[in-house]
Amino acid sequence: DKKHLCTVIVLGASGDLATKKTFPALFGLYKNHYLDPKTQIIGYARTKMDKATFEGHIVKYIKLKTDEDREALPKFLKLCSYQDGQYDKDQDFQVLEKEIEKVEKASGATARLFYMALPPSVFISVATSIKHNNYKKGVITRLIVEKPFGMDLESSRKLAKDLGALFTEEEIYRIDHYLGKEMVKNLMILRFANVIFGSVWNRHSIDNIQITFKEKIGTAGRGGYFNEFGIIRDVMQNHLLQILTLIAMEPPVSLGAEDVRDEKVKVLRYIPPIAKGDVLTGQYTKSKDGKEPGYLDDPTVPKGSKTPTYAATTLFIQNERWTGVPFILKCGKALDQQKTEIRIQFKEVSGHMFTNLARNEIVIRVQPNEAVYVKIMNKEPGLGMKTVISDLDLSYSSRFDNVVIPEAYESLILDSLNGDHSNFVRDDELDAAWKIFTPILKTIDSGEIEPIPYAFGSRGPHGVTEFVAKHGYERSNQEYVWPNHSEA
Ligand code: BG6
Repeated sequence: DKKHLCTVIVLGASGDLATKKTFPALFGLYKNHYLDPKTQIIGYARTKMDKATFEGHIVKYIKLKTDEDREALPKFLKLCSYQDGQYDKDQDFQVLEKEIEKVEKASGATARLFYMALPPSVFISVATSIKHNNYKKGVITRLIVEKPFGMDLESSRKLAKDLGALFTEEEIYRIDHYLGKEMVKNLMILRFANVIFGSVWNRHSIDNIQITFKEKIGTAGRGGYFNEFGIIRDVMQNHLLQILTLIAMEPPVSLGAEDVRDEKVKVLRYIPPIAKGDVLTGQYTKSKDGKEPGYLDDPTVPKGSKTPTYAATTLFIQNERWTGVPFILKCGKALDQQKTEIRIQFKEVSGHMFTNLARNEIVIRVQPNEAVYVKIMNKEPGLGMKTVISDLDLSYSSRFDNVVIPEAYESLILDSLNGDHSNFVRDDELDAAWKIFTPILKTIDSGEIEPIPYAFGSRGPHGVTEFVAKHGYERSNQEYVWPNHSEA
């Protein structure tokens, strides 16, 4: 049985990730009764602060929408305490140990969940300190870690080796928060619980697949981090690749974590490294009206940086199911809208009975406005036999009553509390992912691929439409607008 009462220890408790994601998610779980009310949460960071200041960090991004929320918050805060200390001093982790033991005694917890909301620079020293001071026989230890998992294959392997020397794979939970998103979790059900989808999910029926991530915001405030990594490491090599994996993998033997992850690794291993001709990159400049700054105007970004803030790449999976089907991944910051979606475009129907046909598409809208819709050809109502594009539309907001989509982090923290690894990234999966991207990243880092400038708030760099068309995507000449389309 993997269910244990956990003490949660948030390392880096005053940082951005902890305040924006970890604490609001823990509160979300608490108020919806998914967190055992006996759970104790200990924050740890370098800053000295009193309880009131710490509570200020916890509540900063918590949204209180109902009276119940407002009632739950003070009770939640009672579960939280704070301990300051350095990240490399055994002494400080010994003090933390005393605190953990104290709360364990009171709650009866038998597991410890260490949430590493930390920058990569202190990561291994904290993991080492935990291992030396807070690792106890007979108590289950779980460690949640966050990207970046290295910069390339080599550094990722080094990190895996260093962490692997301290903790077992069973103890490690690598977060890719896209795996906690409602629609991403729906992918296996859509594919494997519907004959009508399952049977056409292959190269015989599908022409091309696009996975698109768009954000309206630029790198605002994160230029320093971002410039070192670029958009491919920031979202494509992890979030978009995870989506691709779930779209492309073979059905797992069961929903068990290792069965699912075995299939994910397998499909990644069929993907050769991305070819230089299959990538297009961009970097945003000032908005057309001059109000929004360009990437290079960010004071934390080095002058003349060639780091891409937009990228489109095409991947191919060389197996029986997918040979010849391009998987086009596109992502960018400072674009015209915010959305993540998967667009599966089918081949043309054979025969010449009709003119003016468009290809079928299954569109899975990950966010915002979660939906699945299928674009189909239909007879235009009335006399005559004219064809028109229509859709079968499952929009969550109209189909489900009072739908509340849980935050990705809530879903993943709950999994880790329950000891379920299926929505976390396994070490060999990470390795396979880096193998696909490392060569092209090296080429980009060397400055060999010049990013194409695009204006803040535009649809992206010139050439994207041609790039997508080159890989088979066909825009229909019939006008079609998804009725639930709305600018977020
Ligand atoms: C993060 C990236 O992993 O994902 C950010 O570092 C990006 O740059 C974010 O904005 C997007 O996540 P979401 O959940 O807002 O789509």
